[in-house]
Amino acid sequence: MKIAFFSTKPYDKIWFEPLSKEYGFDIKFLEAKLDTDTVFLANSADMICAFVNDILTGDVIRSLSDMNIKAILMRCAGYNNVDLETAKSVNIPVLRVPGYSPEAVAEFAMGLCLAVNRHIHRAYIRTRDFNMNINGLMGRDLYTKTAGIIGTGRIGQAMIRICKGFGMRVLAYDLFPNKELDVEYVDLDTLFSKSDLISLHCPLTPETHYIIDEHALSLMPGGVFIVNTSRGPLIKTDALIDALTVPGKIGGVGLDVYEEEGDLFYEDRSNEIMEDERLARLITFPNVIMTSHQGYFTREAMQSIAIETMENAYALKNGMPLKNQV
Ligand code: NAI
Repeated sequence: MKIAFFSTKPYDKIWFEPLSKEYGFDIKFLEAKLDTDTVFLANSADMICAFVNDILTGDVIRSLSDMNIKAILMRCAGYNNVDLETAKSVNIPVLRVPGYSPEAVAEFAMGLCLAVNRHIHRAYIRTRDFNMNINGLMGRDLYTKTAGIIGTGRIGQAMIRICKGFGMRVLAYDLFPNKELDVEYVDLDTLFSKSDLISLHCPLTPETHYIIDEHALSLMPGGVFIVNTSRGPLIKTDALIDALTVPGKIGGVGLDVYEEEGDLFYEDRSNEIMEDERLARLITFPNVIMTSHQGYFTREAMQSIAIETMENAYALKNGMPLKNQV
């Protein structure tokens, strides 16, 4: 069976190529991002494999159905970029990789918090320039401070463990509180107003879209740290920029995702003029760190993503139960 593999990067090939042979699949690696203009590239394939910024609208999925594609293999946990209703209506199962390495993302989230709090990104630049002055680099202890975790699934739980390891008090919010977790669930407004660090670990859904907006930001205490390793549109960028311009309001922001990341992330645009003015503004703030959706990017996670994706394809090919069907 042939798999059309969209948005391929060199590191994808390293993990997927050897496994594809083991599992008996022929992978056609395509650099193109999947959207209405590129969907025709799936023409001779039996399944397609897509990633976080591929665009699987109803039109794209109907085209896949016309080409007799038998499965959509998402090599990621989130599936907000897939029109699930259309996929269901044309009978194409959507399979994903739910829990490949929650720790990879949670560790990265805490890394962003630490870096922005202690200005490690700025210290790195200074010392490389033999500027050993530490003026302006003062941070705050996290010990005994309060972390507010939104979404207590796999990654949120890993983040809770990490925050507790730092001696933080942890508050949590989830649409479906997990009674087995040793954590204090509160309503969203309480979480916003009582947390020194707010870390987002819920999926992007109509309810969570702009979960951090002007109202949420107005409730947060001065000096708050906000970390988003989940999905860009959880934060209303314009509201965040406004809050960042208020002296003392925001301690720091770590963003591994961005509202308009689709055409930007994973590409080298260093020779181009930045057209996204909000992004250009965001990265001028000394207390904002942005990374390009790399929270998942560890050896362990990549290996696990490749294995689980191939397992998903194998299960479909052999009529086995589809445990990772969305
Ligand atoms: P999960 O499915 O294990 O947990 C998500 C949690 O969010 C669940 O407990 C669920 O009940 C909760 N939730 C759902 N709707 C909610 C709402 N309206 N308000 C509050 N909580 C809500 O997912 P997991 O594996 O923990 O991943 C979380 C998110 O992290 C993914 O949806 C994805 O967007 C993002 N992600 C980012 C990565 C990166 O590289 N930066 C890599 C992997 C995932």
